[in-house]
Amino acid sequence: MERTILLTGGAGFIGSHVAVELLQQGCRVIIADDLSNSCEDVVQRIGAITGREPIFYQTDVADRAALERVFAAEPVEAVVHLAGYKAVGESVQKPLMYYRNNLDSTLTLLEVMDAHDVRQIIFSSSATVYGEKNPIPYTEQMPTGGCTNPYGWTKYMIEQMLKDLAASDPRWSAVCLRYFNPVGAHESGLIGEAPNGIPNNLMPYVTQTAAGIRKELTVFGGDYPTPDGTCMRDFIHVVDLARGHAAALEYARRESGWIAINLGSGRPSSVLELVHTFQEANDIPVPHRVGDRREGDLASYYADATRAKELLDWQTEKTLADMCRDSWRWQQNSQGK
Ligand code: UD1
Repeated sequence: MERTILLTGGAGFIGSHVAVELLQQGCRVIIADDLSNSCEDVVQRIGAITGREPIFYQTDVADRAALERVFAAEPVEAVVHLAGYKAVGESVQKPLMYYRNNLDSTLTLLEVMDAHDVRQIIFSSSATVYGEKNPIPYTEQMPTGGCTNPYGWTKYMIEQMLKDLAASDPRWSAVCLRYFNPVGAHESGLIGEAPNGIPNNLMPYVTQTAAGIRKELTVFGGDYPTPDGTCMRDFIHVVDLARGHAAALEYARRESGWIAINLGSGRPSSVLELVHTFQEANDIPVPHRVGDRREGDLASYYADATRAKELLDWQTEKTLADMCRDSWRWQQNSQGK
């Protein structure tokens, strides 16, 4: 029988790409999303890409009664939990809102899953849990914590909740996927990242600058101890990231217990390298200048991606140029929508 997978936050940037991947693998996909940072057209667009629409519930995961109805109606076998607030700066301004939303929704989800005998969960974690002190590249065995903002702490705390839960009951299988820097978009140009207002993250700022929506990109800092002086990050194409979730679901089906797995390419690129690759791959200028450092940025970090290769038989396939081309196609298609 085909597997039924619930994606919380499945209408968002990463969730929509996970939905496409799972539908293409023959799963039934249920999306529970409150549309607080996404829109319902995404559901139809996922259907346009795959030929099969996911089943959509407009639901806040923290709303227990609504979530109970989803579990009562659908034979959910496993959950990919992507719902959550994710803006780093906003989390510093509104910490209680972040702790309330991200922790409360996860607790409700886990209680409802347990009550319905569903105990396989893939959690959308982040490399931010490695904090500021670890040497690079990051391996999963390193100590976590020392996060620089409440958003990061919610990821850290949810990882801990899942660890305690899996230790208490061997029927649970919890895989925490630590994402590095997801960028790119589906090559159809139908789904991608749609930030509200002025983007905080690099790639949407680059695409909006190329499109003329922003005048100029400020490269935050040119005096870091890196080869070209700009920060280095492990950019990962969102379609590769989505394949990692499908592989993690297979793993969770076979193995019980808690595990953290990095999803990154294992290769860092600098901010300027990304800008130059974007210009060349798309043959379009991105006006930019090197400005001051942004507070809280680390000079360089990237994944040791060995564990994902060993346990999930997964590694990234797409290049930085693919990420730049697909992000630009999405920007052009989504303008005005
Ligand atoms: C941040 C978060 C991470 C989160 C991710 C979402 C931290 C420490 N990091 O990563 O948890 O998952 O966002 O994708 O909390 N840059 C510019 N100009 C810009 C924007 C960015 O030069 O206008 C540079 C930054 O200085 C940084 C790099 O681009 O060096 C990447 O920045 P960004 O996309 O915001 O991601 P991170 O800060 O790495």
